[in-house]
Amino acid sequence: MTQAKQPRLRAGLQPFSADLPKADQPMTRAQKQLVQVSFARLAPSADAVAEMFYRELFALGLGLRKLFRGDLARQRQKLMSMLGAAIANLDRLEAIVPAVRDLGRRHVGYGVEPADYQTVARALIATLEQGLGSDFTPALREAWAICYRVLAGEMMAGASEHRADEPSPNRAAQPGIY
Ligand code: HEM
Repeated sequence: MTQAKQPRLRAGLQPFSADLPKADQPMTRAQKQLVQVSFARLAPSADAVAEMFYRELFALGLGLRKLFRGDLARQRQKLMSMLGAAIANLDRLEAIVPAVRDLGRRHVGYGVEPADYQTVARALIATLEQGLGSDFTPALREAWAICYRVLAGEMMAGASEHRADEPSPNRAAQPGIY
């Protein structure tokens, strides 16, 4: 049943890369403000938004649920508070880059692989679409897409430093994950 839903969900979302500007495009001041204002609008219902996000993520990424071994309610808080801190600091990114890279490094230990960042991007955009409704304009969508790409890029940079240092756990080798 749930399996049958997958193609529809996938078909309903545009591929992450198709509607995005160049990977190294920085955010404009206006885009930073758009993201900050829209995130503040979601703040009162942060937990419901995070719940929606994980529902999307686990529907899009078969096998990802098993990577989350801790309490998901706590994880929802951690995600929203990390996103909040990053978004509040978009104007002084250099202040948070070390923490974001460390976060990416820790994600290697959670079994997260580079391709999973794309799945998270799609789940995030779909969540924002649902959460903000008609306020999620094409300009806002683009601003969020660049914002995510910047954060995920720093996380993946941290992760590849980690990968270069030591062998990462092999997720495929863990029973039951795929
Ligand atoms: C901008 C992107 C992301 C942000 C801001 C983010 C944020 C976080 C935070 C704050 C934590 C708490 C643990 C810690 O601080 O080390 C966490 C854990 C985790 N994240 Fe992410 N994450 C992102 C991308 C991803 C991606 C792409 C995946 C792939 C599925 C992922 C999967 C996980 C998993 C499996 C955990 C551990 C959960 C547990 O221990 O139960 N995250 N993430």
